[in-house]
Amino acid sequence: MKVTQAEFVISAVKPAQYPADALPEIALAGRSNVGKSSLINCLINRKNLARTSSKPGKTQTINFYRINEALYFADMPGYGFARVPKTVKAAWGRMIESYLSNREALYGVIQVVDLRHPPTGDDRSMYSWLKHYDIPAIVVATKADKISRGNWSKHLKQIRNGLDLSAADPLILFSAQTGQGKADLWKEIGHLIPR
Ligand code: GTP
Ligand code: MG
Repeated sequence: MKVTQAEFVISAVKPAQYPADALPEIALAGRSNVGKSSLINCLINRKNLARTSSKPGKTQTINFYRINEALYFADMPGYGFARVPKTVKAAWGRMIESYLSNREALYGVIQVVDLRHPPTGDDRSMYSWLKHYDIPAIVVATKADKISRGNWSKHLKQIRNGLDLSAADPLILFSAQTGQGKADLWKEIGHLIPR
C-alpha cells in the first residue's frame, strides 16, 4: 500500500474511546521494547508518529493510527516487562484481552518477535491465544539488522519452531532500521483487510 496519509487519532484506555468509524483495524502485539511502535513508523514512512523509546514500557494505552482513511493500526502496550507494577500489568492484560476478543473491527494481529532470540513463554502464549480465538496473525521477526545475513534462516527457523508455526503461517523477516520486509508485510496486511 502506498501511504499518502497517516495520523494519530487517540490513546484509548477504554472501549468507549476506540474509533467509531468502523474501518478495519490491525493490532500490534509483542514483548515490551521489541519494536512494535518502530514497525508502525517504518510502514508509514514516519520517523516518530508512533512514540518509541529505548526503555521498555513506552506504549501504555491502545494508540490508534488512521492510515489513508482505509485502516487503523492499533499499537498496544508490550507484555513481559518486569518493572511494571503487578496491578498495572493486570489492567493492561485485561484491556488487551478484551480488545482482542471483542473488537468487531479487528481484522488481524501483527505479532512482533525479536529475530535474535527464541520466542519467550509470553510470545508463545500470545500466539496460541490468537490461534485459539481464530484471529489471523502475521508473525514479524524484527531487528534483522542486528543479525548477519548468513544467520537469518537459522534464526527464522528458531522462531518458526518456537511458536509452532505451520509452513503456511506467515513469518516475515523485518528491520525497522533498514526497511527490510516492509513490502512483504504490506502484502500480508493486504490479504487481511477487505478492499
Ligand atoms: P513498548 O512500547 O515499550 O512496548 O516498546 P515497542 O515494542 O513499541 O518498541 P519501540 O518501537 O519503542 O522500540 C524499542 C527500541 O528498539 C528502540 O530503541 C528502537 O529504536 C529499537 N528498534 C526497534 N526496531 C528496531 C530494528 O528493526 N532494528 C534496530 N536495530 N533497533 C530497533
Ligand atoms: Mg511502543
